[in-house]
Amino acid sequence: MCGIVGYIGENDCKDIIIDGLKKLEYRGYDSSGVALIGDGEYVFKEKGRIVNMEQTVNRDIFASIGIGHTRWATHGRPSKINSHPHMSYDNRFILVHNGVIENEVYLRDTYLKGIDLVSETDTEILASLMSVLVKSSCCVKVGIMEFMKIVKGSYALALVDTLDNNRLYAIKNMSPMIIGVGDEFNMLGSDVSCMIKETNEFVPFEDMEFAVIGKDDFIIYDKEGVVVNRDSYISELNSDDIELGQYPHYMLKEIEEQSSVIRKILSEYYDDGFVVDNDLLSELENSDRINIIAAGTSYHAGIVGKKIIETMSNKPVDVHIASEFVYNTPVLSDNPFFIFITQSGETADSRACLKKINQLGYKSLTITNVAGSTLSREATYTLLLHAGPEIAVASTKAYTAQIAVLSILAFCISDYEIDLYKELSKVANTIDEVYSLKNKIKDYAESYLSDTRNCFYIGRGIDYYVAMEAALKLKEISYIQTEGFAAGELKHGTIALIEDNVPVLAIISSKDTNLNTRGNVKEVESRGANTLVISTKSVSNESDEIILNDVHPLLTALITVIPTQYISYYAALNRGLDIDKPRNLAKSVTVE
Ligand code: M6R
Repeated sequence: MCGIVGYIGENDCKDIIIDGLKKLEYRGYDSSGVALIGDGEYVFKEKGRIVNMEQTVNRDIFASIGIGHTRWATHGRPSKINSHPHMSYDNRFILVHNGVIENEVYLRDTYLKGIDLVSETDTEILASLMSVLVKSSCCVKVGIMEFMKIVKGSYALALVDTLDNNRLYAIKNMSPMIIGVGDEFNMLGSDVSCMIKETNEFVPFEDMEFAVIGKDDFIIYDKEGVVVNRDSYISELNSDDIELGQYPHYMLKEIEEQSSVIRKILSEYYDDGFVVDNDLLSELENSDRINIIAAGTSYHAGIVGKKIIETMSNKPVDVHIASEFVYNTPVLSDNPFFIFITQSGETADSRACLKKINQLGYKSLTITNVAGSTLSREATYTLLLHAGPEIAVASTKAYTAQIAVLSILAFCISDYEIDLYKELSKVANTIDEVYSLKNKIKDYAESYLSDTRNCFYIGRGIDYYVAMEAALKLKEISYIQTEGFAAGELKHGTIALIEDNVPVLAIISSKDTNLNTRGNVKEVESRGANTLVISTKSVSNESDEIILNDVHPLLTALITVIPTQYISYYAALNRGLDIDKPRNLAKSVTVE
């Protein structure tokens, strides 16, 4: 949530900061702002998208230091006044912040008595607090150490001291931030995407560290002011990977990358047999229960993963919603193992669970798309998704990649009879075939969803799990209230909501439940529902609207989900909505 980018160097950084912010816009997009420091200090901010703010920036300014911010509001509604950067009461410090401050009232009442604040944000308190603390310290460094002692909560901060044009400061606790290392410049950012055009060398921060950054060097300190030595790493991200290319939206691009992602996963994990870290496999084999922890779409991938792991290996698996697990932890087995599934590797709810798991001394695995992300660094093991950057807020290719990687893991700890390489290759080919159905699916999206207020997806078993993901995708970007329902459960209450023309979309891929789900389709049809069936060939009826080729029964989620992603995309397109940046959301949810 919220994106930060910073630059210090020789060149004019206006465009570097604004371009960087555009790459971070997926993290929050209700307002944005920049502070540009060169021949003076200039702050530009605006409500709405970055382009709105960009239009207000004076092109004549030369700035060799800049910080920028794109916001997802937590404290204070989206508005120009609440958008970052914020200045201290005496105009000395300019600051941008990602995170949530827990003791803002205490800080304001204790340290800022008599100081007028103009915004509703916790960030403005931090800017003024910094000034107060630095004034009573010998230098900015000691002021920052005092700051870290008293401020409670999550924060990634980029900070400029207007009395010193040779430095940029960064402070981090529980929100992501990395340094980009350049030649005669250095940068700061919430992730590598905002800096990759300028550099591919990065240094991560850990919690409760801060950095003093000049154009030629930087020093990272721990909270006691002791220098931290940390190696840099080279990112393999290609700046073309984050461009739209021929596509009108990232979501469509990412839907249509899924067959290549499955092939990429095979190429990364297969070398004359599947190759996964042996220590990790032993931990999994020796555990008495696997706990999968995740949020949103990653949780939905987790419940499909449970089915695959339990079927292949007979090992019991529980799947937990991260935000529930952390404060409502169930009784754990004697020897549990924990798998965190997170596209971004930064989700605060999942991270809070991982911290708890680490404190309890358990081993864990993070399955993530982002090498070097926080959950990857903090877990014992990491498996990468190799899906390439997922920019659209609605997750698509990460979901299929997560299921594919989980199936490889399940295979590696089991004796299950399956040629998984062949079956996943078949999945990739079958996904390619689904792409050719998109115009037909587009028409269905229009006829079923253009003016409905609500919608149901139903299924049983894996089809139910896909129904849940399909419903999340549809509501998230089209704002149609949608439920993913266990088909057999409808008659126990929810069927009361079925009335004339309510769309009910059924997913049917299993011969064991085919007839039962078809019975449920008939039940809702008799009550006026407008039904559509997505089925796989071997269980299809001629009248089914979308028929997909068969894949292995444990892998059907990887193909049945694709038409549902298209349905969401076209439903939102028909309604003229902002597909890649749906309202109220952000891609990387770094606050609890
Ligand atoms: O980065 P993560 O996989 O941890 O993110 C979890 C959820 O926030 C994410 O999947 C969210 O539900 C998506 N926007 C859904 O499309």
